[in-house]
Amino acid sequence: MEKMIDMTQFSHQERIEMANRALSDPSLGVKNDRFRLHYHFMPPAGWMNDPNGLIQYRGEYHVFYQHDPYGPQQGPMHWGHAKSRDLIRWEHLPVALAPSETYDWVTEGIGGGCWSGSAVDDDGLFTLVYTGHVDGRRPEEVQCLATSTDGIRFEKAAFNPVIEGPPEPDGFGFRDPKVWKRGDCWCMVVGFGKGGFGKALFYRSFNLREWEYVGPAAESDGTMGDMWECPDLFPLGEGDRHVLVISPMNMGETKTMYLSGDFDYETGRLSVEHAERLDYGFDFYAPQTFLDDRGRRLLFGWMNIWGSAMPERGDGWMGALTIPREIQPAEGGKIRMVPVPELRELRGGHHAVKAQQIPEGAEVPLAGIRSEALELIAVFDASASKDAEFGILLRCSEDDSERTEVRYCPASGILSMDRNRSGIGDKGISETSIAPMDDGRIKLHLFLDRSSVELFANDGERTITNRIYPDPSSLGIKLFARSGNASLVSLDIWELKSIR
Ligand code: FRU
Repeated sequence: MEKMIDMTQFSHQERIEMANRALSDPSLGVKNDRFRLHYHFMPPAGWMNDPNGLIQYRGEYHVFYQHDPYGPQQGPMHWGHAKSRDLIRWEHLPVALAPSETYDWVTEGIGGGCWSGSAVDDDGLFTLVYTGHVDGRRPEEVQCLATSTDGIRFEKAAFNPVIEGPPEPDGFGFRDPKVWKRGDCWCMVVGFGKGGFGKALFYRSFNLREWEYVGPAAESDGTMGDMWECPDLFPLGEGDRHVLVISPMNMGETKTMYLSGDFDYETGRLSVEHAERLDYGFDFYAPQTFLDDRGRRLLFGWMNIWGSAMPERGDGWMGALTIPREIQPAEGGKIRMVPVPELRELRGGHHAVKAQQIPEGAEVPLAGIRSEALELIAVFDASASKDAEFGILLRCSEDDSERTEVRYCPASGILSMDRNRSGIGDKGISETSIAPMDDGRIKLHLFLDRSSVELFANDGERTITNRIYPDPSSLGIKLFARSGNASLVSLDIWELKSIR
């Protein structure tokens, strides 16, 4: 199918029909499933970036996402859509939003469309709030609404845009509205940047249509990037405690951050007490959270990063979401990110590896476990392994040329995921520092899928998320110790079912 240039010659519903036809056109579909994930959410074909509009509506979880249904590249952005009852098995639904109007159309084939945003339940009316982006237009980005009564077919508001541009001139970006309700009042944060400082702008409304700008909820201190994409501000913990999650542009290796402190709804200001990276991997960006009916603050992130090699593009698709995670408050304004318990439904065959000493220099293969989809919980006694550097080798090839190394060094407190020998795709070592838990142990909880590794250390105190692209035959797992002996307390491994 040919790419359309002038979007406005078709109505929104016509554009959606075209997008859905493209998705069922085999010549545009997935050509090779060698990197298709077994239990992570992916687009049926084409391109995906940010999760959008995460919500539980009438008991069902909905995920929308930045989507180009015409091919595995960032093109005219649509909103893909899927729903689930359990956060694990997803049913793909028709494309929800397509570029079609003067405020969200595409003239040059790239750099426009229905950009990121969020979803709310407005007294039963399923409402999407998104950024209309038109490359080169002034203002380039405006905020828009679309609504649905059946949760499938969305109509753009006739009165769009609802915010016609940023509150100040000469800014850099004005996008990714995240909306939530507090009492009778709708609240919104929008990403913005000015003079080299990223900001999250705070707005209020009583009807989702007329918005009052209150002020910046938070802004960079000069070290946190020049534009804050996908801000998400939410209450977490006691009293006025809130967390602001951001995806700062141009902050070096740091791609996501969270800032926590008390939020004042009158002044619209977050008093930041703690600021830190949200995930320490290479492939974690534009995360969004939502509250479910069990009071959980759940999060999905885009499990890729702009500018990376993205080898799956050659196979006709691109992009995945992380596993669903719950955000929980921890001491000192910190947060933890833990896998949701629903993921246990994926567990199949279980292997328990006995407590053992791993001698210095050894690589101990775990015989009989050869799977692309695994969950592992390894507990090491760090206080009894002080001189060592130890960990797990994943996706090892027979000749050992391929392997992904997860290691901990008690002396330095550095936890790393090394993908310099992981296969094709980008290389590099992700690192974070973490102390053993109070009992002197370090706990590594890993989710391995066909082309991804997610690590949750010490019950979600730190996470590392990476894509890897090993050869399909590289399926070995080993434990290792260097520079000293290491003490393994327990290792549980589950083969995970495929939900594709
Ligand atoms: C983040 C982002 C958003 C934007 C969207 C466009 O990855 O750049 O700021 O709305 O992607 O697809």
